[in-house]
This record gives sequence, structure tokens and C-alpha cells, in this order.
Amino acid sequence: MNHKWIGVVGWPLKHSLSKQYHEENIRKQGLGWEFRVLEWAPQNFERNILELKQDRTCIGFSVTMPFKEKIISYLDECEEFAQNVSSVNCVRNVGGKWHGTNTDAPGFLTHLNQWNPVPSKTVTIVVIGTGATGRCLSFALAQTGYQNFVLINRTFEKAQEWSEKLGCYFPDIGVEIGKWGDLSVSKEILRRGACPLRKQGASQDDIRMTNIFILNTTSLGMKGEELEWLDIAHLQNPVWLFDATYNPSETLLIRQCKSRCFYTMNGWPLFEAQARLAFKIWKS
Ligand SMILES: NC(=O)c1ccc[n+]([C@@H]2O[C@H](COP(=O)([O-])OP(=O)(O)OC[C@H]3O[C@@H](n4cnc5c(N)ncnc54)[C@H](OP(=O)(O)O)[C@@H]3O)[C@@H](O)[C@H]2O)c1
Repeated sequence: MNHKWIGVVGWPLKHSLSKQYHEENIRKQGLGWEFRVLEWAPQNFERNILELKQDRTCIGFSVTMPFKEKIISYLDECEEFAQNVSSVNCVRNVGGKWHGTNTDAPGFLTHLNQWNPVPSKTVTIVVIGTGATGRCLSFALAQTGYQNFVLINRTFEKAQEWSEKLGCYFPDIGVEIGKWGDLSVSKEILRRGACPLRKQGASQDDIRMTNIFILNTTSLGMKGEELEWLDIAHLQNPVWLFDATYNPSETLLIRQCKSRCFYTMNGWPLFEAQARLAFKIWKS
């Protein structure tokens, strides 16, 4: 008998905790579903996804890097937010039709609002990595009312492209692009962060209090690599840091920020929240 199943599609998936998380859910809820880990080399994506589309026993699946954008052309329906940010991380199979959504953004916002203290809307958001996650989180933050953004990406053109799109969606926000790998970038971030307050005629004291919210959405931490060029020694309290990596649970950046008493959040709360929302979608 063919069991109904859910799964995760991505590459690599060695670090992924989706199987453990969802199998526990399936067991607790007595659903009898299987969980499949579909670790596909990028060159096999198209062949595999077309084959998967024929599988009527598949209830739905999570999509992770590097396929969150690629999956969109195989969907029959895609929610507007996911389309705007070109990032789908949850697919539901409805009678052979695939519906795509993004549960990363609502998952992230839930935890952002529980952070103590929640970063104020005047902070400068520094997004490192403008892949699927960087695009989705920066869009969600702009939608929520954050106004100052600095985008930094290894491939400069991708940061540029996203900065133009973000600026079109939200004409009132400020978006600047920082240069990847520049050792002076931390100082530059602080200077840029100070700009909005300076424009409003703030005093030197206010400028020193300028707040920064860094989001590391690159896949470096997952590979055990670090953002060597980001020297947080230049940054002053308060700084918020979100690092999308959840395995390992503490990147060097998180440790450095903790040691400076900055507010930190690793990728686990986001992982848990987006997975919970995805499970709800598959069960509905
Ligand atoms: N906690 C969670 O639940 C959660 C949710 C979503 C994502 N994540 C994590 O976030 C990370 C990104 O995922 P994604 O879906 O956004 O992937 P993606 O769309 O493939 O984007 C990857 C990003 O990482 C950058 N990058 C990759 N290798 C790099 C390197 N060697 N040096 C510098 N930059 C590099 C890419 O820059 P280029 O544009 O230059 O290639 C791009 O900005 C992954 O580690 C993923 O596991 C975690």
C-alpha cells in the first residue's frame, strides 16, 4: 500500500532537522504519514520535480535552499507574498494541483514580536544575504513598517536587483547597498545607521545610540563558515542579531554578539514556526 507522505526538498540536507520535527508531529497526531527527505543535486531538480508532480500520495512538502525560487514555475497557484519575494518554502498538493506559500515570513514575525525588547521601527536593518530568505525577511520587515535597509550580498548584482524591487514595492523606505567582504563595512554600517537620525537633526549622543538590526541570511553558518569581514567591535549597544542558521545552534557571530550583550536569535525559532505553519497547511 502506498502511504501518504510529506517531505522536504533541498540540497544539501545533512543539517536539516525537518525529518525529526515532522515525524514527531505525525506520531503525536496519529496520522500514519511517512516523511521523505528529498536531497536533490541541483542539476537533477527539473527531472525530479516533474516526476514528483505525478505522485498523488504526496500531501505536500517543504522547500529549502537552493530551490525556493525555482519551484515557483512548477506551481499551479502561488500566494502573492511568495510571488513578490520569489520564495516558496511550502507546497500543498490539492488533487494534483500544487499551491505554494511562504511560511518563513509569518514564522519570523511571530518571534520578532516576542523578542524582548522588540527592535523599534527606526533601527537600520542590515540584511546580509539577498537569497530567498533575505528577500522574504526584508520584505516582511518593510511591510511591518521598518524603514531603513542596508543590503549586502556576495553577488553584488543580486543585492542591487533586490534593492530596486524592494524600493518599488515600498517607495517610502531607504535602501542602500553595502559592499561584501569590505573590512570597513562595520564602520560603514554604523555610519549609514546614523544617517536617518542625523537627517532629523539629532545630537551626537543620539547618533551614538543609533540601533542596528543585523540579519545573517547567508548559508555560510550552516557550512561552518563565518562572516570574517563583519567586525562587530565597531558596533555599539543596542544591536539585534538574527542568524538564520539553526544547526549549529551557535555561529561565531551569535557568540560574538552574545559576548557583547547584544540581543541575539538563532534560526531555531524561525525553523520551528515555519514548520508548524507548514504542517497546519498540509493537514487542512
Ligand atoms: N532557520 C530556518 O528555518 C531557515 C529558514 C530559511 C533559511 N534558512 C537558512 O538560511 C540560509 C539561506 O537559505 P536561502 O533559502 O535563502 O538560500 P539561497 O536562496 O540559496 O541564498 C543563499 C544566500 O547565501 C549566500 N551564499 C551562499 N554561499 C556563500 C558563500 N560561500 N559566501 C557568501 N555568501 C554565500 C548567497 O549569495 P549569492 O547570491 O552571492 O550566491 C545567498 O545570499 C540557509 O543556510 C538556510 O538553511 C534557515
